[in-house]
Amino acid sequence: MDYKVLMLKKLRSYPKRINHTLNVLERALELGKLYNASLEVLEVASLLHDITKYHTKEEHLNLVKDESILKCYDESLHHSISAYYYAKEIGIKDAKILEAIRYHIWGKVEMNLETMILVVSDYTEKDRKFKEAKTAYKIAKEDIVKGYLYIMEKTMEYLIKNNINPHKEQIKVYNYYKEKCKGEIDARKNS
Ligand SMILES: [Fe+2]
Ligand SMILES: [Fe+2]
Repeated sequence: MDYKVLMLKKLRSYPKRINHTLNVLERALELGKLYNASLEVLEVASLLHDITKYHTKEEHLNLVKDESILKCYDESLHHSISAYYYAKEIGIKDAKILEAIRYHIWGKVEMNLETMILVVSDYTEKDRKFKEAKTAYKIAKEDIVKGYLYIMEKTMEYLIKNNINPHKEQIKVYNYYKEKCKGEIDARKNS
């Protein structure tokens, strides 16, 4: 299946989202090459990550089936869950592609490299004009985990400033990678 053709068709009424998707793909392939990640995984996951972005509540539910899953998350996150089921429905079986789509908003504990690259690419694609996106891109080219952590830190700051509680899974994954990164720095100091 040509996932690009599919994406262009599904998002044909949303040219900005098409542009964003193609930018994410470009960034993901660039970082993927830099970190020796699977470009096949990144290509499909990038093209499909926002494929259900404009679905109605009912359409999300038709894909996800279980309302209790959707209820655990803010509506702005529902598309990451429904896109995962959408990808499964069109026959995608690759666990890495499915993980990257499902967790493209803030990743998960022990995520695949491709998932982390997609999170970073979504935040740093070339039309993201805010300064944090530029900084995150710069850091990510040096160290993908640090780039990812910077994004998480800035997102947390933004949420707190706007009186929005971060999701418990978001806090968990943030703390996990913060600790992991700290551990690596400590190990380097000790050696
Ligand atoms: Fe998204
Ligand atoms: Fe996106």
